Amino acid sequence: MNSFSADSIGPLDGHTAIITGANSGLGLQTAIALARKGAAVTLACRDAERGAEAVRTVRQETGSSQVWLCRLDLGDLSSVREFAAGWDGPLNLLINNAGVMATPRKQTADGFEQQLGINHLGHFALTGLMLGALRLADGARVVTVSSLAHKRGIINFDDLLSRDRYRPWAAYNQSKLANLFFTMELDRRLRAAGWPVISVAAHPGLSNTNLTAGMRGAAVLDLMGGLFRLMGHPDHAGALPILYAAMEPTVEGGDYYGPNGPGERRGNPALVAPAPQVLDVEIALRLWEASEQLTGVTFGGLPPVH
Ligand SMILES: NC(=O)c1ccc[n+]([C@@H]2O[C@H](COP(=O)([O-])OP(=O)(O)OC[C@H]3O[C@@H](n4cnc5c(N)ncnc54)[C@H](OP(=O)(O)O)[C@@H]3O)[C@@H](O)[C@H]2O)c1
Repeated sequence: MNSFSADSIGPLDGHTAIITGANSGLGLQTAIALARKGAAVTLACRDAERGAEAVRTVRQETGSSQVWLCRLDLGDLSSVREFAAGWDGPLNLLINNAGVMATPRKQTADGFEQQLGINHLGHFALTGLMLGALRLADGARVVTVSSLAHKRGIINFDDLLSRDRYRPWAAYNQSKLANLFFTMELDRRLRAAGWPVISVAAHPGLSNTNLTAGMRGAAVLDLMGGLFRLMGHPDHAGALPILYAAMEPTVEGGDYYGPNGPGERRGNPALVAPAPQVLDVEIALRLWEASEQLTGVTFGGLPPVH
């Protein structure tokens, strides 16, 4: 496991992959690694210009012509639906990577607090709408990107959308915890249904990307940026646990991967343990039901198993 690198990945000719938030940071590095091995990669990005620039970068870096941009704003369910409706054929890999962190309070187009809305609810809806395409592929995977921050998270069912009180970090932590509850509940449902799809999660540790850019306040930004640079690893290294979860043959549904160094902040990809509460199926089920209600997306053919 220690020697894993992007070069460890075998040929991916004939594989299709969607990566959300692929114009920057970990998503861009993941796209480059997969395209280099021959996968047909769709960069699902919210901004057309930044997305087009990323397509150019991936093509230049890899020489691949099988790299496309498709607009996807996870903060707008109509965009998620449009994206999914435009997809044709099997999908081998869905990488739920896009995210925002500790932003000032904003709402998505559907009125959700944006950190839960983009990081969790948008990906929940996208995955539900892509299930048919995933099922068509042979051994498809859904990889959802969480964070060490999930360990400080609480799913606040009394105020899931932070309407009464908004605290930027609590909302981020909650969204990253929701990513893991979603991963595990999806895995249980896929197993019970016997579908040829697995659901896994990964976190990058600390990696120097644009993630701190949306935060409020220059001083905080400088501090966080400095912390990420000092304690973290570069974006191509932060992408490795995602690539491991996406590609290693030994990976099993419900697995969670992160760096193996001190505090899981950097290092080689390894199986890591989520916070104990992530295994609480009651919370997972309650969050799933709330997510279905809020998004209007139900996972046809994957009933609860508890
Ligand atoms: N970097 C770290 O140390 C770290 C640690 C733990 C977890 N993570 C997780 O890693 C993932 C990737 O983050 P990153 O570090 O690579 O940060 P990044 O460089 O800021 O990339 C985030 C990506 O998400 C996209 N995005 C944001 N809102 C979106 C929306 N509404 N619809 C579609 N795409 C949207 C961004 O697009 P724009 O460019 O248009 O904004 C960007 O492409 C996130 O889920 C984050 O929580 C990162």
